[in-house]
Amino acid sequence: MNAPLALLAELTHRCPLRCPYCSNPAELTRASAELTTAEWSRVFTEAAALGCLQTHLSGGEPTARRDIVDITAAAHQAGLYTNLITAGVLLDAALLSRLTAAGLDHVQLSVQDADTTNAENIGGMPGAHARKRTAAQLVREAGLPLTINAVVHRQNLHNLQAIIDLARAWGAARLEVAHVQYYGWALANRDALLPTRAQLDEATRIVNAARGELRIDYVVPDYHAHRPKPCMGGWGSRFLAVAPNGDVLPCHAAQSITGMVFPNIRDTSLHDAWHHAPAFNRFRGTAWMPAPCQGCERAEIDWGGCRCQAFALTGDAANTDPACALSPHHAVLADALEKAATNTFRYREFS
Ligand code: SF4
Ligand code: FES
Repeated sequence: MNAPLALLAELTHRCPLRCPYCSNPAELTRASAELTTAEWSRVFTEAAALGCLQTHLSGGEPTARRDIVDITAAAHQAGLYTNLITAGVLLDAALLSRLTAAGLDHVQLSVQDADTTNAENIGGMPGAHARKRTAAQLVREAGLPLTINAVVHRQNLHNLQAIIDLARAWGAARLEVAHVQYYGWALANRDALLPTRAQLDEATRIVNAARGELRIDYVVPDYHAHRPKPCMGGWGSRFLAVAPNGDVLPCHAAQSITGMVFPNIRDTSLHDAWHHAPAFNRFRGTAWMPAPCQGCERAEIDWGGCRCQAFALTGDAANTDPACALSPHHAVLADALEKAATNTFRYREFS
């Protein structure tokens, strides 16, 4: 069995932004149920022992935790490369200086658009865009490498070239352009977010033209695909997440699969969760696969696609991902594209 490459540490679900494409589960963990600093410290030590090389400190908004500096220090002391995935709106020079001293290695900063008005409509937080620009500047001044994360969809794809220009102007070494994946809260906003085929083709053209001047990672949308992505590199193969309440997950969206029971770090070790938990073994390898995947030449390439998407669209996580044209459920994607016709977001309130 492979060792997990990276640990996604979801420190909290609290966040000052209200992005309609949030992949966190519809039911969020309250602050009182979050893991403590000491529990996170144990998670990092066990992750390093398991073979993880890096951790993504994420959320929600990780800097909403008052102990974010101590948590970063614990991850660093465990020997993990530390990457802070942040909206940037709570970062100031003092906090960044303490994080850097604690061993922070890298920052990924999200932007919702290059256009301030649209960005703040999408993120649901007035004033956020200017704070992000300041955060980017502080990160560069601290000498830390910066990646800009841009989640793209029907309401901001017309500004994709401007988003690429923004990433360059803000000093990013890398830009991640990721089309929305529809699980968690994003599914509730799917009709407002799904891009048209023409938008997707234009986005792909723009990204390809900009490559070379800036390192761009491009995550394409499933709804226009004929074959699925190898989600997580295969369930329980490369990826490990710990949710704010301590649930140990094979993917950040796994809690959207209702009825599945996940091990919790308060009851077990990370080693036992990874190696022995039924939830991790359920979709490992190829033996579990249904008919179109069994014997398919792509079975060990895409691993039958995404379990969370199979559950979201068919009600059964053990089905072939409908993004595959060979799935008997493939038509649900075309139906969703046809119905996507609103420009109104559903926001959720949580702090
Ligand atoms: Fe992948 Fe299954 Fe489709 Fe084959 S049938 S391409 S393994 S999802
Ligand atoms: Fe969970 Fe794809 S997002 S398996």
